[in-house]
Amino acid sequence: MTTPVRDLPLLLLGSAADPATERGVDCPGELPPASDPALVERARAAKAALGERVFVLGHHYQRDEVIQFADVTGDSFKLAQQAAARPEAPYIVFCGVHFMAESADILTAGHQRVILPDLGAGCSMADMATFDQVEECWESLEDAGVADDVIPVTYMNSSADIKGFVGRHGGVVCTSSNAKRALDWAYGKGKKVLFLPDQHLGRNTAVLEMGFSLDDCVVYSPHRREGGLTQQQVRDAKMILWRGHCSVHGRFTTEAVDDVRARVPGVNVLVHPECKHEVVTAADQIGSTEYIIKTIEAAEPGSSWAVGTELNLVRRLANAHPDKNVMFLDKAVCYCSTMNRIDLPHLVLALESLAAGRVENIIEVDEETAHYARAALDQMLALP
Ligand code: 13P
Ligand code: SF4
Repeated sequence: MTTPVRDLPLLLLGSAADPATERGVDCPGELPPASDPALVERARAAKAALGERVFVLGHHYQRDEVIQFADVTGDSFKLAQQAAARPEAPYIVFCGVHFMAESADILTAGHQRVILPDLGAGCSMADMATFDQVEECWESLEDAGVADDVIPVTYMNSSADIKGFVGRHGGVVCTSSNAKRALDWAYGKGKKVLFLPDQHLGRNTAVLEMGFSLDDCVVYSPHRREGGLTQQQVRDAKMILWRGHCSVHGRFTTEAVDDVRARVPGVNVLVHPECKHEVVTAADQIGSTEYIIKTIEAAEPGSSWAVGTELNLVRRLANAHPDKNVMFLDKAVCYCSTMNRIDLPHLVLALESLAAGRVENIIEVDEETAHYARAALDQMLALP
């Protein structure tokens, strides 16, 4: 079983000398100060010294100062696909959060090491479903006599333990770019779905893309007895949503949508499906980070876009498209603090350490968990 991110000590998880790196750069082994004017040059030099031995993946929510060093940028789905793209690289530096690095470890070859530059880069949503809570939920589904009809589907934003649980019970992982296809697959196998851990993605996909009614969905609360549901409610439901949410996307409001529509005539509201149902319903378009990027790229010059997703990405889109009016949907929403933990000093330390022969901050999923989690991830990658 893996350790929840909040319980991980902020120290080195592993250390292995690599003789091939002996010609690398000097590394004092300390986090450089953010004020060091040489940070960009240091990152460049360390990456160049590592050459083909390092593969840097960057999620779209990463800071500009970090994303400039990514060999591949993407949403969670693309990064999961790309993780195994360079089997010859012994080191994968994952600029994203813990659950993404775990998935990369599961999907890469045994000789490859996945490194998360700051072990504190977790995800509050992923932490909202623990293995013991999900086991307890399954027991209550068994008690209600429905477990045999339920296919568990977990959002990528979950720990490897939860993906392992889902794989063990014949389910699938999904991301925000393939949730409908994952649910189509799941309902082809069973009568009900237990959707973990993001209630909003589950509800938005079920209602807006699958034609379910809100009454087809119930919410299982892990901190309440039997999830706060009666057995009859569980028997009647088609979709059992876990009470989890994203602390960033959960803050967008319908007031912000109304406000921007009043201020900016003709504005298009484009939001991520982790937003609340009422916000998504009030928006014009919904999609994953990759979808959001492609939509803005394809937009007409002069068109206006209010985007409801993480601020680093919206800022980057606004800067990359000065011919379009790209704005942040809600002033009250901020960066994802855990994504933001990966900054240039941590990236420099990770790269210089590797170049100096020290492999630190390794993310490694135990073999048994990885086996079942891989089954659920492979099923996602095989979705039509
Ligand atoms: P996607 O990259 O799949 O759109 O997910 C967004 C997210 O919240 C990642 O943590
Ligand atoms: Fe987790 Fe939300 Fe941050 Fe994504 S944006 S890593 S779901 S807290």
